[in-house]
Amino acid sequence: MKQENDFKMIAKTIFGLEETLSNELLRLGAKDVEVHNRAVSFTGDLGFMYKANLCLRTALRVLVPFHTFKVTDEKSFYDSISAINWEDYMDVTDTLAIDTVLNSDLFTHSQYLSQKAKDAIVDQFRAKHGERPSVDLDKPTIRINIHIYNTDCTLAFDSSGESLHKRGYRDKTNLAPINEVLAAGLVLLSGWDKRTNFIDPMCGSGTILIEAALIANNIPPGYYREDYGFERWKKVMPFDEQLWNTIFDAAVNKITNHEQKILGGEISPNVAKKAKENIKLAKVDDIVSIKVCDMKDFEVPAGKGVVIINPPYGERMDKDNIDELYKMMGDTFKKNFGGYDCWILSSNMEAFKQVGLRPSRKIVLFNGPLECRFMKYEMYQGTKKIHRLEEGYKKQNKE
Ligand SMILES: C[S@@+](CC[C@H](N)C(=O)[O-])C[C@H]1O[C@@H](n2cnc3c(N)ncnc32)[C@H](O)[C@@H]1O
Repeated sequence: MKQENDFKMIAKTIFGLEETLSNELLRLGAKDVEVHNRAVSFTGDLGFMYKANLCLRTALRVLVPFHTFKVTDEKSFYDSISAINWEDYMDVTDTLAIDTVLNSDLFTHSQYLSQKAKDAIVDQFRAKHGERPSVDLDKPTIRINIHIYNTDCTLAFDSSGESLHKRGYRDKTNLAPINEVLAAGLVLLSGWDKRTNFIDPMCGSGTILIEAALIANNIPPGYYREDYGFERWKKVMPFDEQLWNTIFDAAVNKITNHEQKILGGEISPNVAKKAKENIKLAKVDDIVSIKVCDMKDFEVPAGKGVVIINPPYGERMDKDNIDELYKMMGDTFKKNFGGYDCWILSSNMEAFKQVGLRPSRKIVLFNGPLECRFMKYEMYQGTKKIHRLEEGYKKQNKE
């Protein structure tokens, strides 16, 4: 039931993960959950806002909308922001950062609008007090998110601060790893039961394996993170440290210690070294192990499980090599991965054809700006045998 202290929030996500995020929210106890494009709205109280930031695996940030207005041009935008009494929300000692997301033909430059909004706020303070709040793009006490959809403008406080994909477990000097929110989304979309084997045989810096380990043992994704935007809030919903500690301790108490097999393979020794370091930093080195090897030689444990691969998409490879790599994945699934549900995420639709297997599911997802498919190939225990029979049948028919 809706409580008096409940308010509306919006969790932002990656295109394709909206349903997954909505399920996460429902499981956490959110109310009024509604799915939108790249976002899910819900209601809850302050404690739930802390919990959402700490526990949501597929949210990029949690916003608290506080004001909406219609916008027609730059002047009406400035005037509408000036008309808000900003002292209700902040004082001159607060520091400010503004992010604008545009989905409208009225404007072209989001950064310019952020500047305008900042001008409107600081001009108001200067006119009243002769002083103005300063800007801090890194760790402001208040981060405001402006969303313009056609002529609708929504202002929201950003409770997360830095994007929630920055879990805090990763060494900063890295290659081009997959976003942690996307990696967690892949594991949740795969329907992995958390107890059977989990394998990423092209693991790169290990992100998918680490997110799988966090999911398997109920470790909140924000466990390692040292900073959230809401910790610096003073006037609106001032930071309640005691409540935060209660929420944090309750989540940590739910961490389990199962010992399933989470295995990674990586062809490059240097990259594998990086993956091992990250796995240590995430403190999941007791359940995740990495081998330097080509996927085709990966020793697959008997039984059932899930395989998720984020292979090279081929931007820096010639076509023959990329075709060969995708063919190898399909052949290796057939040969060595009987009993496993095998998933590939890629933006390369031509290369997908080389896998040579019929996918049982195709999910559209975005990896940064790249539109991808997340394809599922179910390899039944007897696939190897069936494959041999099929080959034999084809041969017989030829002869
Ligand atoms: C796109 S990256 C994976 C990124 C990873 N998901 C992460 O978060 O860092 C693909 C990885 O596959 C590895 N790779 C390419 N061919 C391979 C093969 N035949 N066997 C194993 N690994 C391979 C590459 O070295 C690279 O690290």
